[in-house]
Amino acid sequence: MGEITVSGGKNTSVAVIPATLLCDEPCTIENLPDINDVHVLIEILKLLGCKVEYIPGKHLIVDPREATGYTVPYQLSNQLRASYYLWGALLGRCCRAEVGYPGGCTIGSRPFDQHLKGFAALGAEIEDRGGMVNAKAEQLIGGDIFFDVVTVGGTINVMLAAAKAEGTTVIYNAAKEPHIVDLANFLNSMGARVRGAGTDVIRIRGVRRLHGCTYAVIPDQIETGTLMIAAAATRGDVTIHGCIPTHMEALTAKLLEMGVAVTENDDSIRVRPRGDQRAVNIKTQVYPGFPTDLQQPMTALLCMAKGTSTVCETIFEQRFKYLDELRRMGAKFKLVDNTALIEGVSELYGAPVTVTDLRAGAALVVAGLMAKGVTEIYETSYIDRGYERIEEKLRMLGADIRREPI
Ligand code: EPU
Repeated sequence: MGEITVSGGKNTSVAVIPATLLCDEPCTIENLPDINDVHVLIEILKLLGCKVEYIPGKHLIVDPREATGYTVPYQLSNQLRASYYLWGALLGRCCRAEVGYPGGCTIGSRPFDQHLKGFAALGAEIEDRGGMVNAKAEQLIGGDIFFDVVTVGGTINVMLAAAKAEGTTVIYNAAKEPHIVDLANFLNSMGARVRGAGTDVIRIRGVRRLHGCTYAVIPDQIETGTLMIAAAATRGDVTIHGCIPTHMEALTAKLLEMGVAVTENDDSIRVRPRGDQRAVNIKTQVYPGFPTDLQQPMTALLCMAKGTSTVCETIFEQRFKYLDELRRMGAKFKLVDNTALIEGVSELYGAPVTVTDLRAGAALVVAGLMAKGVTEIYETSYIDRGYERIEEKLRMLGADIRREPI
């Protein structure tokens, strides 16, 4: 029986760190995962003139009082997706942002038209050219925004820009993911007035000043899910501590349907084997539906479930690139438009495989845990974007996995 503690959430940390720019005093963030996206954002804060103390595993203290910068070059912004939160945070801080295009995983076209539409609704003038987004306003004024698609990044960006705008902003068709609620809680801990986060209408009454606070980000929903899937894949008996079971309901329901035993406590989840694992059908959806970020590791698990599973990806059109790597390991599937038909096989075998994006990396790790023989996984830096020391955690649970120097 293995026990493991989950790290702080990546997708909440990458919103909370830029949000510190809105504060008029120093603030302290705890429970950040020690991952590359966090490191790059800290570099960006320093470049903008923030004083920063970062002790991995302990805290990040940001004093933004003397930060005068509002420009983030493409060389830094393209190192991660979440650099787009600098648009909203800088606009909210000083009504001016000049930030290069975001990078991140290539899992689809990933437009940001809704973010820019949101800023425009608050009165910002936007220039989007040459790989830079330049946004400015005399004063941001609260407004109504109706998103055409439910967008996590767009919702967060408008929350950041609106927190100190004059008047009230209302976001309709807002995303409801746990990290939206976490960001709202962080902003409110600094004195912001954000209401309705976690529903599809968020109201933000702008305030003039935000005060310092100490805030611990929520545990990582996707790391929790990946560990649950890894436990099911190895038929292990694993307890994951420090998680929020209610965030995991879509995955828990599917694992139960497959025949995996899952039990929840207040802040832990236990996953145990219970006979054969059966094929299930998955469709990725916005929260509280099945998260697209768990589609890939879940698909790897389904490669050895009895019967044929269907996995329909509705959020990111290119999130199936890793299937060709799984095929090398013996997986059988057919891809029809945005749906993969996965025919369960009785055996996967080790092979050299290459990671194409962060969660594809998690899928290949899961497949490697199930496969007979040795799986060599290349381009692991993708995995390090989102998982803190994944190999150490899995080794603690009994997996035979190690990182080799290149
Ligand atoms: N979309 C638009 N226009 C926009 C914004 C989004 O058409 O202006 C579309 C996208 O193309 C996509 C859908 O709306 O089809 C949803 O995109 P969303 O904006 O919600 O995603 P995101 O902000 O780019 C975040 C996470 C992703 C996660 C998605 C969905 C961060 C930094 N990224 O991306 O995380 O998959 O929400 O939950 O928070 C990951 O962690 O591996 C990852 C990719």
